[in-house]
Amino acid sequence: MDNFTFYNPTKLIFGKGQVEQLRELVPQYGKKVLLVYGGGSIKRNGLYDEVMNILNEVGATVHELAGVEPNPRLTTVRKGVEICKQEGIEFALAVGGGSVIDCTKAVVAGAKYDGDAWDLVTKKAFATEALPFGTVLTLAATGSEMNAGSVITNWETNEKYGWGSPATFPQFSILDPVNTFTVPKDQTVYGMIDMMSHVFEQYFHPVSNTKLQDGMCEATLRTVIDTAPKLLENLESYEHRETILYSGTIALNGMLQMGHRGDWATHNIEHAVSAVYDIPHAGGLAILFPNWMKHTLDQNVERFKQIATRVFQVEEEGKSDREVALEGIEKLREFWTSLGAPTRLADYDIDDSKLELMADRAMANGEFGKFKVLNKEDVLAILRASL
Ligand code: NZQ
Ligand code: ZN
Repeated sequence: MDNFTFYNPTKLIFGKGQVEQLRELVPQYGKKVLLVYGGGSIKRNGLYDEVMNILNEVGATVHELAGVEPNPRLTTVRKGVEICKQEGIEFALAVGGGSVIDCTKAVVAGAKYDGDAWDLVTKKAFATEALPFGTVLTLAATGSEMNAGSVITNWETNEKYGWGSPATFPQFSILDPVNTFTVPKDQTVYGMIDMMSHVFEQYFHPVSNTKLQDGMCEATLRTVIDTAPKLLENLESYEHRETILYSGTIALNGMLQMGHRGDWATHNIEHAVSAVYDIPHAGGLAILFPNWMKHTLDQNVERFKQIATRVFQVEEEGKSDREVALEGIEKLREFWTSLGAPTRLADYDIDDSKLELMADRAMANGEFGKFKVLNKEDVLAILRASL
């Protein structure tokens, strides 16, 4: 293992009815609250009213930043920063999925920064402080509820970057599986693909002796694979929503990544694709990940074989290590396809006309990937294989 320091200050509050805890939590941070949410799902399923009633009962003055886009945009972040500065906001509450939470992180950091919030996203400036914020998660996917990361899109320049700082961990996150009942089938599938992809990003690393980390990653993957079809049969199953909600948080709260850094190349390429075409993050991952795997297979066939046998139950007898590894990758593709995921960029009407632009965006900070370092030719090869 590499040396490491683990830091995660987010208070995780999990289970049915836990939104009631807002009553105790919010007043600890102040009276002037910015409520951040997306395009209206929380109004349709009643969560908005529930949260508003509690905020009113504790005497909070509530300002709203509504309409946060999936793949949240810089323009919306700027609106939120302006409200915070003008109204003297003391605390922000994100109620939604990863996009709402990521936008909130940029807003609370931008509120404490004199320049433009884009400086923080592009790492021209470092967010040393931020307003405190909490989250009520409504979609199991990104892990943003218990990490400091945020991904923001500048649609004018077709740039989408991840950033974060110790100041952008939520103070608390409330996870009630019931609040995810209304997530439609396609977003439920995207969420499960995203969390599985987070595990893959961390599983493929160049460090030795990560036995326990490997086992935790494999258990998380087996759990999602086992639960996914059952959940899709019954989207209002508390048991299966609970399993998937917890899996999404564990997949990206830092626990699987102690002692190594993970690869993260596929996420970098996907962010470049969705910066140019505005497709769902995990739709892009479903297309790209198996192709990244085939492209990097020879870097460490043994590791691919390990995941093929331990997670995808590939039989070894009579096959070479490489054949076993390749069969594992095929099984992953088959599994995601069985859930209804896209398999080619063409499924989103993406052709080869902007491959160069996407590759340039992916290369914005130079070569990347810890398991295998990728250059522009590698990126183009993975994108071409994904057409
Ligand atoms: O906007 P509303 O109306 O709320 O609808 C949303 C949105 O249309 C809907 N939804 C959410 N909860 C719902 C619901 N619909 C019905 N019932 C509910 N309970 O789902 C749609 C997608 O929401 P979004 O927040 O965009 O999805 P997700 O959580 O997958 O977030 C995606 C964003 O997170 C970034 C991605 O790049 C993308 O921008 N990521 C953030 C990460 C992080 N901060 O750690 C890591 C990830 O790898 C990822 O890159
Ligand atoms: Zn992701």
